[in-house]
Amino acid sequence: MSSYQVRPPNKTAPKLRIWDLPTRLFHWLLAVSITGALITINLGGGWMEWHVRFGIASFVLLLFRVVWGLIGPRYARFSQFVTTPAKTIAYLRHNAGSRHAGHNPLGAWSVLAMLFLFLFQSSTGLFANDDVMTQGPLAQFVSNDTVALLTRIHSFSEYLLYAILALHLGAIAFYSLRGEALIQPMVTGDVPKHTLPSGTQSARDDWRVRLGALVLALALGALAWWLWDLAFNAPMSFS
Ligand code: HEM
Ligand code: HEM
Repeated sequence: MSSYQVRPPNKTAPKLRIWDLPTRLFHWLLAVSITGALITINLGGGWMEWHVRFGIASFVLLLFRVVWGLIGPRYARFSQFVTTPAKTIAYLRHNAGSRHAGHNPLGAWSVLAMLFLFLFQSSTGLFANDDVMTQGPLAQFVSNDTVALLTRIHSFSEYLLYAILALHLGAIAFYSLRGEALIQPMVTGDVPKHTLPSGTQSARDDWRVRLGALVLALALGALAWWLWDLAFNAPMSFS
């Protein structure tokens, strides 16, 4: 078992790449989009148009993350961090104080919960309307009853969203207070090698990985463009 020790920062210490650039960009763009969607829904009125823009951006970013979780580099892959409840309990009992490369087993559950919840929220938003002047891009393709149901579900989860975000930020603050900096790696991608278990391998983050991510992002960008066009240029399905 390797133990995590707090040491003074050493800028020249060897580092390992843990978070590839596409995963980091995904994270910070998602943070902006979700924050934007929540601020604009609370402002209401003319800001609803921006709620839809941020919501669609969140939706395609999350689709990107799901595909990246299947084909992306080591620590971005679901197969690397998704684990069983038994292994999570074993981690908490024996290894909770040690530094983990990538998401630790407990963090992995909250990451999955966030990805699921935000994907669910943005998918239901695609079919929602406010009966006044805003409608999701796919609302026109389903019945009024379905729109009403999905709008109710979409509006229901607001406090769940705040709760999971508070948990996320609280956990990051907790680890920071314990001396385990998680934010910097999500910015630069790197973790000092001496803080990681020996034998930890770095994640690939070369131009091929980034080119692959760019191709995927362009395809999903086209999807976002289409959804935006449907949301703002299609006739309203309510009068
Ligand atoms: C609405 C705002 C935010 C959302 C929706 C969000 C969502 C997420 C998600 C989905 C992940 C998993 C990353 C992945 O594997 O793809 C993650 C990880 C992470 N987030 Fe956020 N985040 C938000 C704000 C923030 C902020 C403000 C900070 C910093 C203060 C932050 C710091 C981190 C860090 C450090 C990780 C990596 C945790 C680890 O090492 O396991 N997040 N976040
Ligand atoms: C796919 C993109 C999205 C579209 C088209 C969309 C559209 C809408 C519409 C039309 C409403 C008004 C419903 C009503 O008046 O009852 C609404 C409400 C709401 N949306 Fe979205 N949304 C989207 C994504 C998101 C995302 C990503 C979030 C947050 C993470 C979010 C959070 C909310 C919340 C909390 C409400 C309820 C506000 C309330 O009832 O006070 N939406 N959305």
